[in-house]
Amino acid sequence: MHFTARFGWPVAAHAARAILLFGLAAGPAAAQAPDPARVQRGEYVFSAAGCLGCHTDKDGTPLAGGREIKTPFGSFYGPNITSHPTFGIGRWTEAQFRRALREGVRPDGAHYFPAFPYTSFTGITDADIADLWAYMRTVPPAARPNKPHGLGFPFNIRLAMIGWKALFFTPGEFKPDPGKSAELNRGAYLVNALGHCGECHTPRNLAGGLDRSKWLAGGVLPDGTAPNLTPHPETGLGKWSPGDFIDLLKMGMTPDGDFVGGEMAEVVKETTGKLTEDDIKAVIAYLRSLPSVENRVRKPKS
Ligand code: HEC
Ligand code: HEC
Repeated sequence: MHFTARFGWPVAAHAARAILLFGLAAGPAAAQAPDPARVQRGEYVFSAAGCLGCHTDKDGTPLAGGREIKTPFGSFYGPNITSHPTFGIGRWTEAQFRRALREGVRPDGAHYFPAFPYTSFTGITDADIADLWAYMRTVPPAARPNKPHGLGFPFNIRLAMIGWKALFFTPGEFKPDPGKSAELNRGAYLVNALGHCGECHTPRNLAGGLDRSKWLAGGVLPDGTAPNLTPHPETGLGKWSPGDFIDLLKMGMTPDGDFVGGEMAEVVKETTGKLTEDDIKAVIAYLRSLPSVENRVRKPKS
């Protein structure tokens, strides 16, 4: 009697929880119940890779697609990558997801256009892709069909991507350089594989391939320019202090007190502003270690 009065409720509650946990572990949902630690790490990878923007239209339904991505070849529309089984990627396997990011290949074998920056994402490690996949599975399904890309001939030919990839794409997971510090390697990984900073900040040739001899030395975008990030003192960021970098990457504030606009504002909000202190430091260390390239980017007059 005494025992029940004092311990009856908690014991019952524990028993109920044990049954619930057991039920979950044994039930059919168990196979799909994602590991919360993996999902949390995956959410960080998702931010560091900036997956949201291109796949989320103005109405804000996360990853339901429809967002316009302008390029010199026409407009692409980010597809629905929610867990919807028909309109999204709900029926995909982790292996298919990994192949899309690493090789730029669709589950049916067709090739993706590099407006999906797999040229950078190819470097994402298997471990990060596995965590990212765990997170993707938790994105609520949205029943929105994909919008066809608005590309003119001949840029609408997917098969042409085979040739493009042979020329401008080197698939492969990021391999740390043993001659560099752990911080510089982490920075290189954050900037080049996850953050895909080079997709905007590196100049492109006429076929849309990245000019690797001018890595991060500034690029021209359909709606503006992405500045030279190398340490060149006049045309790059050679005169920036570590504090200048921190203000920009955390809040989007430039040394003269302005705020970055447009696409970089979104990068700050969704990506660099969400990085841990250590990761911000690694990004800065890497950018400051880049070879200095003189390149003043100007938008060509149209
Ligand atoms: C710069 C814009 C951009 C970013 C950033 C981006 N994507 Fe995409 N993504 C696209 C475009 C455009 C396509 C369609 C490519 C095509 O049709 O060939 C695509 C296609 C995909 C597909 C294939 C969908 C399908 O139905 O075949 C997946 C999966 C995907 N992206 C996942 C991601 C993930 C995960 C991230 C972050 C790591 C990401 N994307 C970041 C633009 C982007
Ligand atoms: C989608 C294109 C895009 C991506 C991706 C991108 N940037 Fe930017 N970035 C821009 C644009 C455009 C500007 C110029 C913004 C302005 O002047 O308002 C800019 C500005 C900057 C500046 C300020 C430079 C200056 O001289 O004022 C820094 C630093 C920077 N970006 C770093 C990064 C880093 C680091 C990444 C990767 C994590 C990144 N950017 C990814 C487009 C991009």
